[in-house]
Amino acid sequence: MDSVSPLDVLSTTKVCVYFEGVKAVDEVDLEVPRGRITGLIGPNGAGKSTLFNAVSGFVPLTAGTVHCGAQDISGWSPTRIAQLGLVRTFQETRIFKRLTILENVELGSMGSGLSGVKARKAAGDALELLGVSHLSDELAANVALGDERRAGIARAVATEPDFLLLDEPAAGLDDDETAALSGTIVAIRDALGCGVLLVEHDMSVIFAICEEIHVMDSGRTIAVGSPEQIRTNPSVIEAYFGREHS
Ligand SMILES: Nc1ncnc2c1ncn2[C@@H]1O[C@H](COP(=O)(O)OP(=O)(O)OP(=O)(O)O)[C@@H](O)[C@H]1O
Ligand SMILES: [Mg+2]
Repeated sequence: MDSVSPLDVLSTTKVCVYFEGVKAVDEVDLEVPRGRITGLIGPNGAGKSTLFNAVSGFVPLTAGTVHCGAQDISGWSPTRIAQLGLVRTFQETRIFKRLTILENVELGSMGSGLSGVKARKAAGDALELLGVSHLSDELAANVALGDERRAGIARAVATEPDFLLLDEPAAGLDDDETAALSGTIVAIRDALGCGVLLVEHDMSVIFAICEEIHVMDSGRTIAVGSPEQIRTNPSVIEAYFGREHS
């Protein structure tokens, strides 16, 4: 893997998000390089979604900074962050049921500032990449859950992001669909050269495709490393796998 320049990294520096009485995220330093897939894992309540929300502008930072390349994006609105090239999906797909799959995905490309023709091309390419182009003209209300979720990811991909944050993309998918999704995420990274931050409870996806894994517990980072390092890290086994299998 080529080394990446500092401009090609999404990073948080000592990010804190405190709710009343809860340090949901506590001094987290996270790095998501472009062109790589970074996993974000941890037990329930570890702070993964809150960190995700903080990076994408959906919750205010209590302290710390978020940079996209050289740009300090701390305190920016979600829309402004998306227009800069940092786009996220939601665990529950926020798809418009009365629009077709293509129309839904075009909303993504147009929302990122692409013009009509370019927006349509980006949407078509994204649908192709996600393997749902045959459903372009179907109403979103009529497609299966797995296809709806793929269309949700296609909408984010159609913005041609530099950084793509995926929130539990395998939730609700069966084993075959999950295996296919792992390949699709790699294909998205290869096609766009984007950095991917992946929150996912399905460890088969995390260990299959992440080049680096960031582990949180109780708001704090407890480990960062390669899949092999994480798999054998005693703190991770204790905090995450120990509890999961107890
Ligand atoms: N809006 C909020 N107000 C108060 N507390 C919150 C809020 N959002 C999250 N929390 C708390 O912050 C902590 C971290 O929650 P978060 O949802 O980020 O964890 P998570 O790692 O995403 O967990 P899961 O794997 O269950 O999705 C939890 O204790 C949660 O109850
Ligand atoms: Mg969560």
